[in-house]
Amino acid sequence: CAASGSTAQAFPATSASAQNGSELTILFGSQTGNAEGVAEQLAVRAAEKGVAANVVDLADYKPKQLKQAQFLALVTSTQGEGDPPDNALDFYEFLMGKKAPKLGQLRYSVLGLGDSSYQHFCQTGKDFDQRLTELGASSLAERVDCDVDYEDLAEQWIERVLEAVASEAGASQPVASASTAVGSAAASLYGRKNPFQATILTNQLLSGQGSDKEVRHIELSLEDSGLQYKPGDALAVCPENSPELVSQLLSALAFDSEAPVDINGEAGTLGEALARHREITLLTPPLIKQWAELAGQEELSALADNAGELRDWMEGRDLLDLVQCWPMPSLQPQQLVNLLRKLPPRLYSISSSQAAEEDEVHITVAAVRYQSHDRNREGVASTWLADRLKEGATVPVYIDPNKNFALPDNDEVPVIMIGPGTGVAPFRAFMQEREEREVTGDNWLIFGDRRFRSDFLYQSEWLKWRREGLLTRLDVAFSRDQDEKRYVQHCLREQGADVWAWLARGASLYVCGDAEHMAPDVHQALLDVVCEQAGKTADQAEDYLRQLNRDKRYQRDVY
Ligand code: 2AM
Repeated sequence: CAASGSTAQAFPATSASAQNGSELTILFGSQTGNAEGVAEQLAVRAAEKGVAANVVDLADYKPKQLKQAQFLALVTSTQGEGDPPDNALDFYEFLMGKKAPKLGQLRYSVLGLGDSSYQHFCQTGKDFDQRLTELGASSLAERVDCDVDYEDLAEQWIERVLEAVASEAGASQPVASASTAVGSAAASLYGRKNPFQATILTNQLLSGQGSDKEVRHIELSLEDSGLQYKPGDALAVCPENSPELVSQLLSALAFDSEAPVDINGEAGTLGEALARHREITLLTPPLIKQWAELAGQEELSALADNAGELRDWMEGRDLLDLVQCWPMPSLQPQQLVNLLRKLPPRLYSISSSQAAEEDEVHITVAAVRYQSHDRNREGVASTWLADRLKEGATVPVYIDPNKNFALPDNDEVPVIMIGPGTGVAPFRAFMQEREEREVTGDNWLIFGDRRFRSDFLYQSEWLKWRREGLLTRLDVAFSRDQDEKRYVQHCLREQGADVWAWLARGASLYVCGDAEHMAPDVHQALLDVVCEQAGKTADQAEDYLRQLNRDKRYQRDVY
């Protein structure tokens, strides 16, 4: 599993490499903890191999120190539109800027974590790599861009980096044991590599009659799993593909579902591989490129070489479209399995607090259904949960901790929670937790959705908490109850004076939900509020929000 909660470790600089002044600096840019986990894993392996290493969070690293560094391993994820993770923002800006130092002495390697179905796949890793080269640093091991299924590639990269450092610096004895370095191993047996089979206790419709959406409240049992989560964490659900889509694919390919294939080193059938182990609803540029090569399709190769056109073509299409538009008669079942990426788990912000619900975990799921290119399409996990999993069924899950979306440690700190649509989920967890712990800090929820009558998710709970005083304040924006659209950012602007007053007394701000439109619009509204209420310029307001973010008082969970 990713970061297991241990903090960055500095290893004693006693090895030969360190005596030569050649310590490996390991930096990580991490939003939810995966990159941090890899950085820590690298440090553990370094210790075992006698390479002195020092892991540092990019937020805590003074970029000028790079001038003294000899070996650098940088692990970073990428956010939404190709942006660096929050903890890497300052370092990124410095390195990209004019004041960045010449780094002729530095040998480095970058590991990028990302998702190849996104346009800006591993962009931050690519940016760092390019910039370090521009600054004169030279490569220690080639950059690796990892897809969602990153573990194996990350391990190989770790070994390559360490071999390179060891051979250049001359390492000696191990300097620390792995067990001391890892510190807090996960308490549960279950994790990414070994999901827990959670039983569905409740699977009920949350959205009301007349809603355009189908939002469900799902409760799962974690009994006897030992799994632990905190408000702000996500539940990773390992889904199954739609049986109809699988059978349509099989018939389009004229393949037998029972065809024997090797699935990640184990014997299985093609039907199983397509149902449970491979991504078939999302296309990625690497897949298209390989498909074009294997099929010898020049037109498809040309399309694959044009990133913009490729993206337009892939939009709203899936593997069945690829098979139908660009048939490959020579394709064999095993080849297909090897071409497709592993079916990644889907992450849902947890909507319960373990302090309140103990052995249960709750999620809030909007079923994704839409039409494109003359066919009905479905989101993999959301429709699996909505249509095919009844109460009593089991779902493979694990906890995906999120270090950067958490309630303040200090119970007196007021919180402002902005969560339209299913973005409200983690705030139900926040409130359950604060209720259970009898916290004194004020709580303000700003919720938005289409219609009051059908889309006020968890309405009775918010109203109860409002009556009881736990929820100090509740503002709602229903976008389609009147002619003019009304969104959460309208509430923020209208309540600007109070938002500023809350911030002035130390409130933390949380935003959860849509990354593409809502989060930037809310950010802009916050900037406007800060300008207006505090008399700041646009730049000063931006600095103010950046500082809030550094202080962990402006946290976002957007997707
Ligand atoms: P709409 O669908 O009526 O446009 C949850 O999905 C709520 O978020 C809906 O009310 C939706 O409104 C609204 N929404 C859509 N775009 C938004 C944006 N850019 N900022 C904030 N809310 C938005």
